Amino acid sequence: MPASAPQLTILPIARVVEAPEALTLLQAALAAGVVLPSSCRNGTCRACLCRLVNGDVRYRIEWPGVTAEERREGWLLPCVAVAVADVTIEQPEAIDACDLPVRLARPRF
Ligand code: FES
Repeated sequence: MPASAPQLTILPIARVVEAPEALTLLQAALAAGVVLPSSCRNGTCRACLCRLVNGDVRYRIEWPGVTAEERREGWLLPCVAVAVADVTIEQPEAIDACDLPVRLARPRF
């Protein structure tokens, strides 16, 4: 039986999603219907910058756009980070797509 993927907990919305090694944390969140801020998705613009509350990640690129000091302070770029263990992040702008209102369009005849 294959080992289960690490869990990604997204605060403050308290959503828990699977974060397999094949996906970045941003991709894992999006695949589960959680929208996180992002732009370049290659670790340079810092639009996705958020807090790593706990857990362990590795970066897909050698020089992500966070300094060593920022990493020590708990800042993380989820667009290029992969969970290597269960991870909790804090992103106040996270949106659970399940919470968005549904608008039904009137049929046109
Ligand atoms: S989206 Fe640009 S650094 Fe993450």
